[in-house]
Order: sequence, then structure tokens, then C-alpha cells
Amino acid sequence: MKSWQWGNAAELSTDGAQLAAQLAPLGVRLRAYPVASAAAPWLAPAQLDASEQERLLSALDGVFQELQRERGYQDRDLVILYPEHPLLAELDAKFCRIHIHEDEEVRYIVDGEGVFGFVLPDGRQLEVTISAGDYIDIPAGVEHWFRLNGLQRIKAVRYFSARGGWVPVYQERSMQEFPRP
Ligand SMILES: [Fe+2]
Repeated sequence: MKSWQWGNAAELSTDGAQLAAQLAPLGVRLRAYPVASAAAPWLAPAQLDASEQERLLSALDGVFQELQRERGYQDRDLVILYPEHPLLAELDAKFCRIHIHEDEEVRYIVDGEGVFGFVLPDGRQLEVTISAGDYIDIPAGVEHWFRLNGLQRIKAVRYFSARGGWVPVYQERSMQEFPRP
């Protein structure tokens, strides 16, 4: 976790314990998994072809195997976004709206940065910027959003159960003001 902030507030916090306490009622789990050194050759380039992606996933499979044992995940793939990505604006707009999923959303960031936003049970909203080595697990039904920050670059592994249900279900609630970190 790099930093986090409340909606409508100008202050960034780096207090991970306080963030964990705020997210606890939602069941959101943040963990740190150091990125395997074997993955390094596929982290430097902004974009990867299909065979490079497969090699990167293989280099990261230590985490996958641990999560398979612990959580029963069945599959994994990669999301790779970078400033020249042809669908960058479209994808950013799609996930930057409050939504839920019928299954959990699980991401392991291995390069770049991304911003996850959450609606707490009392209606307050907060955003968390996560970066390489961060793992996040958002339970089914938790209102959240995702966007890129000014870096516009991320490589994230997505883990899937056999249940499916990760299509976004958009909510009526609107987002508070957050400066783009
Ligand atoms: Fe989502």
C-alpha cells in the first residue's frame, strides 16, 4: 500500500494499520507479496505479447499456488495497461464507476500502480493507491471502483474462482471528489 485518502479531503495517509481498520468492516484484505525476482525480465517493458505474459505468470506462480491452497482459485490472467494502450480511456472510464461483483475481485500488482476506491458502511468513501507487491481481495458485494493514477501503468494478476461472477454491477451511488493521485 502506497497511500490512501478520504473523499473530499486533501490529505494522503500512509498509515497502513489505520487503513486496515477502516477496511475491516468490508472484509477487504490487503497483503504484501514480494514480487519474485524471476519475474524481472517481464516487468520492465510496458507491454508484453502473449508468450511473454505466460512466462511472467509462470514466474509468479508461487503466489498462485499459495492462493490455490488457501482460497481455491482456479485460474489467473494478467491485466496490463500503459499510456499508449488503445483502450486505456475506455477501460479507465468503465471501472471508474461504483460497482460490485457477485464474486470476489482479487488482484496482485506486480508493476506500476492502481487506485481502488471503497464505500464504507457509513457512506464515507476512501481511495487506496497500491503498487508492486500489493495483493488485494475485495469480497463479493462490496461497493468499489478502480482507476489508474498519473502513471497510467499497471501489471496486475487477476485470480479467479470457478464461480465466475466478476462482471461489474454498477450502483446508483456517485463518487465523491478525489484528486487524481
Ligand atoms: Fe471491480
